Order: sequence, then C-alpha cells, then structure tokens
Amino acid sequence: MASIETAAASPPDPFIPQIYRVDSVRRELGDTVTLELMPLAGKRPEFQPGQFNMLYLPGVGEVAISISGSKVESTGFVHTIRAAGAVSAALTRLEAGAKIGLRGPFGTGWPVAAAEGSDVVIVAGGLGMAPLRPAVYDILANRGRYGRVAVLSGSRSPNDILYRPELEQWRRRLDLDITVTVDNADVDWRGNVGVVPTLVPRAVLNPQNAMAMLCGPEVMMRFTANALRDAGIPANRIYLSMERNMKCAIGLCGHCQFGPEFICKDGPVMPYDRIAPILTIREI
Ligand SMILES: Cc1cc2nc3c(=O)[nH]c(=O)nc-3n(C[C@H](O)[C@H](O)[C@H](O)COP(=O)(O)OP(=O)(O)OC[C@H]3O[C@@H](n4cnc5c(N)ncnc54)[C@H](O)[C@@H]3O)c2cc1C
Ligand code: FES
Repeated sequence: MASIETAAASPPDPFIPQIYRVDSVRRELGDTVTLELMPLAGKRPEFQPGQFNMLYLPGVGEVAISISGSKVESTGFVHTIRAAGAVSAALTRLEAGAKIGLRGPFGTGWPVAAAEGSDVVIVAGGLGMAPLRPAVYDILANRGRYGRVAVLSGSRSPNDILYRPELEQWRRRLDLDITVTVDNADVDWRGNVGVVPTLVPRAVLNPQNAMAMLCGPEVMMRFTANALRDAGIPANRIYLSMERNMKCAIGLCGHCQFGPEFICKDGPVMPYDRIAPILTIREI
C-alpha cells in the first residue's frame, strides 16, 4: 500500500499528490462535511472558483472534489464532501490532524471576470452550491462590478439545505437576491416549495445582459438550462459544471472524454452551447 509519506517526498507534479493536513472539520448535514486542508509544505496554489482537486487517501482511493471555500478567507483549500461511496465516505470520516494527498487544482472556472457588467443568476441544486460558493464570494468581494445578482438554491427538504446559516446571512444583504426552495416541506418551513427551475422566470430580469452559472444533479441542470433559455439568456452565457467521474484529471487517460471534450480539462465548467450534447449522454 502506498504511504502518504512516500508521496510527500516527490516534487510537484500533476500526478503526484502533495500532503495536506486536515485543519478543521465542520459537519454540514448528516452525510456531508466541510474540510479545511492546509499544505504541509509551501503555500496553497492559486485557484479559480469552479476548479476541483483530486483528494487521495492511501489504500482507499482518489476522488474529484470541488473547491468550496474563499480565496482570501482561507490560506488552505476548503472542500465540502458528501459520503457517496467508499472514498467520499472515508473522507467524511477524517478528523482534524489527519493527513491526505491532494493533486490540483484542475479544470476550468466560473466566468466570474467575464460576468462583470452583467446581471448574474446563480442556480444550485443540493451539493451544487459547493463549487458555486467561491464564485459568490468573488462577486461579493467586487459587488460594484456586477448588476443584479440572484442566487437560487434548491434542496430536497429543509434538512438538506447546504450552508443554511450562510444563506440566511446572504439573505439579509440588500445587494443580493436569495431564494431558497425545497421539493418537500415540513410543517415549520415558511419558504418556497417546488423545484428550482420554477424560480428562474422571476430571477431573470434583463436576459440579454445576464450570465448564468449552475450546478446540481444533471436532470436539474437540464431543466434549469431550458428555463434559462426560455427566459431569454443566450446558450453561450449559461455555464454548467459537469461532475463526471475522473481518473487522471489532466486530459491523458480518456476516462472523462465525451466526443472532443475532456471534462477534466475542457470542463468541468462549460457553456451550455458546448455542454448540451453531453448532457444527453449517460456516464459509462
Ligand atoms: C469535477 C468534480 C467535482 C466534484 N465535486 C464534488 C464535491 O465538491 N463534493 C462531493 O461530495 N462530490 C463531488 N464530486 C463527486 C465525487 O467525485 C464523487 O461523489 C465521488 O467520485 C464518489 O466516489 P466514491 O469512491 O466515494 O464512490 P463510488 O463508489 O465511486 O460511487 C458511489 C456512488 O456515487 C456515484 N458517483 C460516483 N462518482 C460520481 C460523480 N462524479 N458524481 C455523482 N455521482 C457519482 C456512483 O454512481 C455511485 O452511485 C465531484 C466530481 C467531479 C467530477
Ligand atoms: S480524467 Fe483522464 S482524461 Fe479526464
């Protein structure tokens, strides 16, 4: 079994995990935690909102996980992980002080700079808020450069709302329109009920000058992209993050290839006009 100390001795290389220490663990939901990871040596590399890292546990495996934290608030990498299978579940069981391997950051980011001067509509389904949160942080850090900013967040139930305290804080801002919806309400829920695409028409006021960024389950992204198109946003101004399985993460193994696109390096964030054909193909 490879040891994490062996990986440490190697020079920086996109194939070789660097060692990070778990600095803090925050339980977000029953099956979901946020880890803050600090490099054992050197500084954390720069990253763009929307990019991902490959997190590696020796003897368990390696998975792609989006960066979910702020560039400025943390000197490490922040990742929000849901226990979906063997590797992700093991990552959610880590405690502060544990060491893990990390390769990255990889992939394309959200068009945060290109959206300057435009209205921005951010749409998240469930865990999809994780890769979008750094984009919200960047936009809020330069709020004056954007028009109206709307965040639509959909979850299965009130108990599944990711980053709920932070959404409540954002809701109190006058320069951000936050709408949270759930598919199934409980008796205490006073907010919207219904799937997230139904919120799109009232979030898009100026479609020709709007940029949309969305992430969530693929079925949700298909319906939301259609709603954004129906609202008048051009397909090349709607960006989605495609979270398909990865292995090498640097465009070499072909594991994530769909036609001419390698999701790991041409994505995960891609405009809808390029991503639409891939959205109709199930993962192999
Ligand atoms: C670019 C990218 C960013 C991602 N960001 C995050 C993140 O921020 N947080 C997070 O928790 N997960 C994220 N994922 C998904 C994460 O990589 C998978 O959950 C993980 O690969 C599952 O691996 P496993 O070994 O734990 O489970 P496996 O045993 O491989 O799979 C368990 C179950 O999860 C499903 N699954 C496997 N891979 C994926 C996937 N990529 N997307 C959806 N379902 C999958 C399988 O079909 C199976 O039903 C991201 C994936 C990609 C490609
Ligand atoms: S994961 Fe290997 S080519 Fe994309």
